[in-house]
Amino acid sequence: MTARDKLAINGGSKAVRTAPGDIFTWPIITKEDEDAVLEVLRRGGMSGTDVTVELEREFADWHGMQYALGHSTGTAALQAAMWGIGLGVGDELIAPSMTYWASALPAFSLQATVVFAEVEADTLCLDPDDIERHITDRTRAIMVTHLRGYPAPMDRIVPVARKHDLKIIEDFSQAQGSHHKGQLVGTFGDVGACSLMSGKSLAAGEAGMLITNDRRIWERAIVWGHRERTAATRWTGELQEKYITDPELVPYAGYPWGGYKYRTHQLSSAVGRVQLKYYGERMADIDKAMTYFWNLLEEIPGIRAHRPPRDEGSDMGGWFGARGLYVAEELGGASVDRFCEAVRAEGVQAAAPHRRPMLHLHPLFNEADIYGHGKPTRIANSDRDMRQPEGSLPVTEGLYDRVLGVPWFKHFDKTIIEEHALAFYKVAENSDQL
Ligand SMILES: Cc1ncc(COP(=O)(O)O)c(C=O)c1O
Repeated sequence: MTARDKLAINGGSKAVRTAPGDIFTWPIITKEDEDAVLEVLRRGGMSGTDVTVELEREFADWHGMQYALGHSTGTAALQAAMWGIGLGVGDELIAPSMTYWASALPAFSLQATVVFAEVEADTLCLDPDDIERHITDRTRAIMVTHLRGYPAPMDRIVPVARKHDLKIIEDFSQAQGSHHKGQLVGTFGDVGACSLMSGKSLAAGEAGMLITNDRRIWERAIVWGHRERTAATRWTGELQEKYITDPELVPYAGYPWGGYKYRTHQLSSAVGRVQLKYYGERMADIDKAMTYFWNLLEEIPGIRAHRPPRDEGSDMGGWFGARGLYVAEELGGASVDRFCEAVRAEGVQAAAPHRRPMLHLHPLFNEADIYGHGKPTRIANSDRDMRQPEGSLPVTEGLYDRVLGVPWFKHFDKTIIEEHALAFYKVAENSDQL
């Protein structure tokens, strides 16, 4: 690789010269997906559950889990997981502030609330060392997001949860197939939930999946939003007592406690089955390409790979929306915006600052009175004000200018990957031109 002198942003020639072809196309849809969809469509099976149940079985087996439950969205699966573990009025859920809103916001619908903890500056996942200071006698659970393919440090999070008798929910919407120290994400906690929407690395359309080894959680998730599945539950214990006491009414028991309808659309389940069948080999292609890309950039200043150490058995699954870490100090203080602008000018479309609203600073979490309590929903069911002002999570807040998008290659093509890496290399090596 050589860094040509003049940056494209200053009139030089572009680093990326080769057309990308299908290297970024996702999901990969073949005739097999089309046939699977048409089969369901033609027999009018869209609202059934037979294909979904097959997908659940395959998904559970892949994870070595006993139970899976398909949902309409990842958001629905996360809310069901929250209710499944018993999150309720006034309970506190500890979640990272740097995550998608659906990892946290559904807690409000259960009249619970959220307390945000730091993420680690290198993994971008929940910082195990910052959890304990947020625990109160109202804390019930920890939400862990495996962000952008990166498997959160579960070996350090699980002991904290066990020590304080807290449940763990894993949101692996961005990391299906990622391993932490040899174990698949989604399988460490009490329950895992993920999105399968079509932008994700495992893409079914609009769908979500919940997995657990705890039959009670699975049954509660069914009761919450799957009225057509209630007969499949054993109606054990608490559910039997509270939900239906008259055995003669069992066949009619299917009113969902949540008042929700969360079943997966079966056209998505059909796509999901085919996508899952090929996901292993497609992840391997992505991994080969992304690993090559980052290895090329190993030594350059200003940018670091967002990937875990391989030698401990951790990996990035499908590398969903891959990210890099930006170190402005190594590039004369050039802003991430200017750096990305220059890399884009070299022909890398994905280069953009990763800026999402920090959830702990968002008005929805601090001011909005969503349910008409006469005060912000965040504190509506609590006897304390747990809102976190600016400055309360300095590591997370500091990441606002330190994360950027990088190309998410789906295939290994040496030339195209080298050209994209060259774009970053060239801008980093010539940062005095920025
Ligand atoms: C981390 C995370 N959690 C939850 C969701 C919500 O999933 P869905 O869009 O399927 O509701 C997404 C993606 O959309 C996500 O990235």
